[in-house]
Amino acid sequence: MGKDVIIACDFAGAKQTFEFLDRFTDKKPFVKIGMELFYAEGPQIVRELKARGHKIFLDLKLHDIPNTVKKSMAVLKNLDVDMTNLHAAGTKRMMSAAIEGLTREDGTRPLLIAVTQLTSTDRESMQKDLLIDKPIDEVVMHYAKNAKDSGLDGVVCSPLEAGKVHEACGRQFITVTPGVRFADGDMGDQKRVMTPAQAKETGSDYIVVGRPITAASNPVEAYNRCVAEFCD
Ligand code: C5P
Repeated sequence: MGKDVIIACDFAGAKQTFEFLDRFTDKKPFVKIGMELFYAEGPQIVRELKARGHKIFLDLKLHDIPNTVKKSMAVLKNLDVDMTNLHAAGTKRMMSAAIEGLTREDGTRPLLIAVTQLTSTDRESMQKDLLIDKPIDEVVMHYAKNAKDSGLDGVVCSPLEAGKVHEACGRQFITVTPGVRFADGDMGDQKRVMTPAQAKETGSDYIVVGRPITAASNPVEAYNRCVAEFCD
């Protein structure tokens, strides 16, 4: 499995996205398209980025009844994305249905990873809003195991959790980790961060990096620095 740096293309529209990506003339980076860009531009943005040679992580975090998720995943399969995701809270039945929908006739499929607990959910909101009393760590690991049992390929997690996830679910189970910052960089609104080199040490398989690259004065240089620290 290839370690890679995924650039979070958190742009409002196609124009800004293409202007940004046009700077990358050598290697075409793996990119993440989230809800904002997808809802603004629709599936065409995926087709265009694929045509330009980018691998795509479509970060739409599906969570619905199993039948709806299965049929929606079948649409994403035809869009030929490389990686997509869902909420593990949708249950094992929903995750198995997602796998069915995403699998092509020849048996291949995009990587499917699960969101466990969003990092914006803290212990208090879990207890008060969701009536979940278990500690967050336990919930995260339980959801990761459910994802593995359902046939998913991995989870999105903090680089700080990557080691534990691999211990619980095996080394082949992929960890995709946001919350990455350069040692000399701005934290922004991220609280628990690691450098690309530290993320490599903890065993992250893919790092998702947004602003340290997109807001850099030289994004190509920042991307290359991430690749050098994380992949080489
Ligand atoms: O700009 P920055 O590097 O913080 O971007 C990180 C990306 O990863 C954003 O697209 C953000 O939505 C996403 N993400 C995150 N933390 C999570 C899940 C996703 O930062 N727990």
